[in-house]
Amino acid sequence: MKNGKIGVIIPAAGRGTRMNHYFPKQFLLKGHPIIYYTLSVFQEHEAIAEIIVAVEEDLHSYMEENVIKRGSFDKVKEIVAGGKSRQESVYHALVKGKGWDWVIIHDAVRPFLSQSILAKTIETVQEREAVAVGIPLHDTLKKVAGQATIVKTLPRDNLWMIQTPQAFSYSLISEAHEKARREGFEGTDDASLVERMGKEISLVMGSPLNIKITTPEDLLLAQAIMEIGDW
Ligand code: C5P
Repeated sequence: MKNGKIGVIIPAAGRGTRMNHYFPKQFLLKGHPIIYYTLSVFQEHEAIAEIIVAVEEDLHSYMEENVIKRGSFDKVKEIVAGGKSRQESVYHALVKGKGWDWVIIHDAVRPFLSQSILAKTIETVQEREAVAVGIPLHDTLKKVAGQATIVKTLPRDNLWMIQTPQAFSYSLISEAHEKARREGFEGTDDASLVERMGKEISLVMGSPLNIKITTPEDLLLAQAIMEIGDW
């Protein structure tokens, strides 16, 4: 199945509540919404065949007019309705990915994915079937309780911060999502659903610049990365 058909799912149906703003206006970077840059990365990569985006229904036409048409993102095959959770949004797209051999899932709010990390993810998933991008942790992690008092220090040697993209064979991730739904399990990423199946997931080195833009501070950082123009 090497070199099979690769589809991409972009969950973009979060309300951005932590941002205290409403997508998309305040999410502009140099005149375009964040997802514009995210889609560009996949549009540009020759191995990607199709993209499915999950958005809230009331943003469907905004997405079509201001993002997909404007950016000529002709790989976007479909826009599906988002779900209550990220997992549900991904699921709505996943069931439409019939005919795909491989699926790459990437948060809409991570526009600074480099072509080299994407290429490494594609190469690795075709060898190992399940991949997550991440970076080793440099800060000290502590478990806290109550009014934020420290319970204990966690050994950080084996701790990584996991990002997206995450990539899987279509059959594996579909099975993992179906199982999670059946069992009422809600994960914050897709790898956690695959972990529950006892499947090993390979790690690909990510980048500290591959940030998830969720807070006003993240947006400041994003503007700075954009200005520098190198990620
Ligand atoms: O929820 P989280 O902050 O991890 O969001 C990661 C991505 O999931 C974002 O791109 C967001 O738009 C998306 N999301 C979604 N549907 C939801 C919640 C989040 O597509 N119900």
